[in-house]
Order: sequence, then structure tokens, then C-alpha cells
Amino acid sequence: MSTIIPSPAQVRIFDTTLRDGEQSPGCSMSPSQKLVMARALAELGVDVIETGFPASSHSDREAAALIARELRQTTLCVLSRCTPGDIEASVRALEGAARPRIHLFLSTSPLHREFKLRMGREQVLEAVSRSVAAARALVEDIEFSAEDALRTEEDFLAEVIAEAIAAGAGTINLPDTVGYTTPGEIRGLFERMIAHVPGARDVVFSTHCHNDLGLAVANSLAAIEGGARQVECSVNGIGERAGNAALEEVVMGLKVRGAYFNADTAIDTARIVPTSQLLQRLVGMPVQRNKAVVGANAFAHEAGIHQHGMLRHRGTYEIMRPEDVGWPSSQMVLGRHSGRAAVEQRLRALGYLLEEAELELVFADFKALCEKQRVVHDSDLQALMQDGADSQGYRLASMTVSDAGHRARATVELSDPDGDRLFETAEGDGPVDALFAALARATGVDLTLESYQVHSVGLGADARGEANLSVRYEGEDYDGTGTSKDIIEASALAWLDVANRLLRARDGVKNSELAEA
Ligand code: KIV
Ligand code: ZN
Repeated sequence: MSTIIPSPAQVRIFDTTLRDGEQSPGCSMSPSQKLVMARALAELGVDVIETGFPASSHSDREAAALIARELRQTTLCVLSRCTPGDIEASVRALEGAARPRIHLFLSTSPLHREFKLRMGREQVLEAVSRSVAAARALVEDIEFSAEDALRTEEDFLAEVIAEAIAAGAGTINLPDTVGYTTPGEIRGLFERMIAHVPGARDVVFSTHCHNDLGLAVANSLAAIEGGARQVECSVNGIGERAGNAALEEVVMGLKVRGAYFNADTAIDTARIVPTSQLLQRLVGMPVQRNKAVVGANAFAHEAGIHQHGMLRHRGTYEIMRPEDVGWPSSQMVLGRHSGRAAVEQRLRALGYLLEEAELELVFADFKALCEKQRVVHDSDLQALMQDGADSQGYRLASMTVSDAGHRARATVELSDPDGDRLFETAEGDGPVDALFAALARATGVDLTLESYQVHSVGLGADARGEANLSVRYEGEDYDGTGTSKDIIEASALAWLDVANRLLRARDGVKNSELAEA
């Protein structure tokens, strides 16, 4: 069966950035953004990409189908509840995929059975058996997840797993849905289930840990010690609430401590930082500076005593080399004289993998930008890609802000999602206040700002301003970023980035309304 892995030391990386990750507040992506990210994940070498939850929204269905048409080497998986409607939506979304997988889930813990499902043990067992068999009749590769497995009675969990295996599941996932377990506990659970459940040795056991107590990576590594051979994780650890296990940390944990774990992955670790930075840009959510592996400080040494040690032997204070995870050791300067190859190479380093025709378009934009500025920085390229990856939504055509009189006044000209022009003027307590009021009037979106930060990116004459906004809208959080030479314009771009994200989310059905997966 396709789910059985050849080497007992190989741990499969199941990436859920586009499903559990995208489901988290402020991280929604459009189908075209998901395709950009899926390409980067395939290049990174993940074994399975969970592309979405087709029954939850039109946008998820579109993204899954878009990715299925293009990526032929990676297993593509979609999430499905144990219902005929969900299974049918999943099969349709995977049509034409070279390596399709359906990921069925049902809660098994007493709390979920009583309050969420209102089902008894027998009903759960019956639903698992029926749904796995039905899905297996349509798609060969089936994964089953016992949601909230880590708070499920062990005897019942064993029965559920046996039922799913007997009905044809090739992968069994035991999620720590609420981030409740500890390393010792999860390791023991995997050991006992693999040792005692009938058929367990013929399937792959998978771990899926949430980070509510900051233990998701430690628990995932402990599950591997207990026999799990698939880890469900996400880039930068994005995911429901405090997130999922961070892919980069799990992968580097296994690599740096390979001798201890006696296990490794197929990940091309030099692609980790570009992929992380791509995601930060796509969802507008930067990682903290001290984030392991991919944070700006992960390889920075400031203390004199550390610098001294590093100069003598880098191993004194570094357990992995920055270049092994994709931090650039040197920077190439891009400008008027740079060719397509240099631009393509820099975009690859930033995580963007473009087809010929897409590169042509970006290169033309790059040349136009070189007419305005001497050096094109990474942030400029990212801004060009951002515009290309998501051309739907409101776009800024022009703006003027004056702060001469008693109150500041801003006028904005936008193109709406249909390409029509809109003009609006508003006053405010300062230029930014007036600008945001004009944008709110023009789009009809009223945002309550949670945070607004501006900082400069790059140096000297080519320095640009970057604005980051966080807002709360109908109980959900959204973030956005804008970059420009002018910080007020960067703020307008960040505002529109947020507004477009929440309008996209509002157009689709919110995942959280459909399932608390
Ligand atoms: O956290 C969880 O239990 C999930 C399942 C759907 C795998 O995301
Ligand atoms: Zn989850």
C-alpha cells in the first residue's frame, strides 16, 4: 500500500500549513496564494501537503483543485468529516491528483463525544468503520484521525484504531488536539498502541500536536521515539490557537540529533528559511526575532564572550550552520544591470518558484522598478510578488494627504475587485487617521485597529517603510503588511491588505463555523 514507508528510520513530514495553519486567526490565504505556498512546500521536500478542507468553503475547494492540477510528485491530502457529503466534496477536490489522500477525522474523547458529537462509543465506532470503508472504496490512500486522542480512554482509542485499520486506513493519526499532553505521556501512548492494536504494525502512525503549553515540538519528537513515523506540522508553527508543531523545529531536531533519534526526514533543509519567509509575507504575520531556526536572531551573536568563542570555533555557540537552513551567507545586489537569471535566483531564495510566463511578468515589473530606484531589495521583490499573487480585491491607485488646517484630510482613489474606480475623501485627527477613514468609506469595511507599527527596511537612499496592521473583525484577527518609499502609503497598503484578507474570508464560509478541527 502506498502509505507504507520503506525505511523504518524515515519520518514523513505531513505539512498542514494550508489547512490547520490557514484555519488560524489572521492566516487566511487565497487559492492563488495557496498555490504559491504549495509549490514552495513541494520544493522543500515535504511528503504530504494537506491542501484544505473542501467541505468548509468554496475557496478551499478551489485551492485544492488548483494544487492537484499542478503538483504531481507530492501526496496531496484533504480533510474530511465522517459524512458522505464531506467525502464526496473531498473526492471532487482531489480529482486528477496524481497522489490523492483523504484525511477523515472524528472526535473520540468523552468530552467531545458528549458535548460536540452527542454520540456514544458504539456510534463513534460505527461511523469510523462506515466512513473509512466508504472513502477507501474511492481513494486508496486513507488517513484516519481520532480527534482529541490524547484525552480519550485508552481502551476505547485502541478499539477505534483497530476499526479504522480494519476498514482500510493506511495512516492512523493520534492528535493532541488541545495541546494537553506531555512528552513522556505521548511516547508511552504510541508505544502501547503500536504494540497492542491488531494491524498496527502494518500502518503508519502519525502525530499531530498543538502548542497550547508550548510543548508541540517536544511532544512530536517524543511520539517519534514512541514509534510515530509521520509528523503533522506547519511552517512557522501556524495553526489553531497557539499553533501546531513547527516544521522547521521538528525537522532540525531530527537532523541535529539524528544519532539520538535514529530517524531523519527527506526535507531539503536549505529551503527552510526561504519557505518560512514566503509564508510570513503571504499571511502578513512575521515570526518573533528569537524564534528557533527561522527568527532573525536565531544565529545572531552579540555578547562579546560568545563572539569571541564563535571566532575560535563556531561550534562553541552554534549547533547548526545558518546556511544549512537557508540563511544567506552573502547578498547579491539587484539593480538595472541584473538579468532574469539573477532575479529568478533571488526569488527562489525568497521561496517563490515561478513558471516561465510568470517570471516574464515579474521581470518586467522589476525593470520598471529599476527606473525608479538604484537597488531592488528583497522587500521590493516580495512586494512585486504580493501584487501578482493576489490581484483580487481593492487596490490603491493614488492618494493625497494634507495636514495643513485644523484637521487632516485624505483623498484616495482605488480600483475595486471588478476594476472600477472609487474616490473618497475623509478627515481625521492626523494624516493616518484621515487616510484610514477614507479607505473605510471607499471599501465599506470598518476596521478596529489592534496594533499599528511602522519601521524601515533597507538602508540609505533606498530605504523603504514597512507598515504592519492587526485588526479584529467580527471576532477574528487579521494582519496585513504594506511596503513603500512613503510610510503613509505603506500604511494605506497595509490597511488594504487586511481589508482584502477579511473580505476573502467573509466570502468563504468560516472554517471555524464548520468544525473545531
Ligand atoms: O487538531 C486536530 O485534532 C486536527 C485534526 C483534524 C487532525 O486538526
Ligand atoms: Zn489540529
